[in-house]
Amino acid sequence: MRNRVALLALGTLTVAAGAAWFTGATMAQTRQTRATVEAASSADLEELGRLLFWDPVLSGARDVACATCHHPDFAYADGRDISLGVGAVGLGPARVDKSGGRIPVVKRNSQTILNTGYNGIDGRRRRRGGGDRASTAPASAPMFWDSRVRSLETQALEPIKALEEMRGTSYPEDKAVDVVVERLRALPEYVTRFEHAFGAGTPINAAQLSQALAAFERSLVAMDSPFDRSRAGDTDALAPQQRRGFDTFDDVGCDRCHRGTMFSDFDLEAEGVAEHPLLSVPDAGDGRFRFRTPSLRNVALTAPYMHNGTLATLEDVLRFYDNGRSENPNVSNDPGRNGDGAARVSRSFRRVDDMSEREMQDIVAFLESLSDTNFDRTIPAHVPSGLPPGGFIGSH
Ligand code: HEC
Ligand code: HEC
Repeated sequence: MRNRVALLALGTLTVAAGAAWFTGATMAQTRQTRATVEAASSADLEELGRLLFWDPVLSGARDVACATCHHPDFAYADGRDISLGVGAVGLGPARVDKSGGRIPVVKRNSQTILNTGYNGIDGRRRRRGGGDRASTAPASAPMFWDSRVRSLETQALEPIKALEEMRGTSYPEDKAVDVVVERLRALPEYVTRFEHAFGAGTPINAAQLSQALAAFERSLVAMDSPFDRSRAGDTDALAPQQRRGFDTFDDVGCDRCHRGTMFSDFDLEAEGVAEHPLLSVPDAGDGRFRFRTPSLRNVALTAPYMHNGTLATLEDVLRFYDNGRSENPNVSNDPGRNGDGAARVSRSFRRVDDMSEREMQDIVAFLESLSDTNFDRTIPAHVPSGLPPGGFIGSH
């Protein structure tokens, strides 16, 4: 009986806001539930997320925004091998460290935000209890090169806490999100915009901040490439070389990992990409030198490549696969299992066939057909803090 009452109360929560018998706590919950439901479909929320994404007020020294490293000029990545956050100025490859080495380098290549709303969607049937296997639910969407975080909402607060990305040395990591939330509460335009997005009566909090950023990121979709148009029946969308390249891509075994709608199985694999020379400690990815298979959508727009940007061009990537060997001393090429615990290259990686020069060129042409350049490139003229949109990225 108690259960049934609880169930009933839950069901009523979303509809009967004003019922007099609700306790105070339940009323607050009601307001929040309704606010969340209403916000889910709200353009206000997306626009709020855009402003937050561009606002350097989210960083310790108010100099770095999400857009500093995820900029539309670089297809929402930054065109660098590894990113420069706090203590640097400029945009993309022209960005330079001004901290005199005081701030450690970001150890990885910036991933594009385009289509991250689809992370985890690989078009395969789910295997039960399958370890690394990604699920298609937004709450478990894999994030980062090593999939260490799940969901856009959870991811959104991580750069704010990271010393070298946005936090710097202004406050300790465990205070970072609180400080940023306090700053937002003190800015009248944000107070009004959060109220419009989430409903009045709930002071700005971390959950709302992450929901707004995630809502904006989900709006960044770029899935109408020549390849997609050819799938939809436009016979002129692909050049003959690109069609050939698509077949070769499958024939040589790229599709063992780069498959499905996003051209990724979202699994972790070891390929033994060489370490970046600037890192003092090897990047072990998930701990066994495995990194997530990246989506190949828009890949031609986001050079340089791999988790540390050490391969400059798509031709370089093809040559790496053609060699088919780990170039990292920490990742063994030895297929055998002798119990030494060494990280080994993935079997599907070793199995990629040798390619001719022409086959590699065809595959590159095919990869270029996965670009949809018609994505949202809006740069807000103003952000609520009054700081320069995008941070210290120079005149634009
Ligand atoms: C200093 C540069 C920098 C800043 C600032 C930055 N990012 Fe990133 N972003 C990166 C790098 C580098 C990665 C990959 C990190 C890794 O794999 O460990 C990344 C990864 C991501 C991913 C994962 C994408 C995927 O496919 O897994 C998302 C989403 C993202 N960033 C969103 C944001 C948001 C939101 C902000 C602002 C709150 C932000 N980033 C600020 C550099 C940056
Ligand atoms: C074993 C699974 C696997 C196979 C097979 C495979 N890839 Fe990859 N691919 C990955 C992983 C994992 C990465 C990231 C590796 C890293 O950063 O250390 C990657 C990275 C890439 C990148 C760089 C993307 C970026 O955003 O930086 C390209 C391009 C690419 N692969 C194309 C191909 C092509 C073309 C083939 C076939 C010749 C192929 N891949 C075969 C798993 C695979």
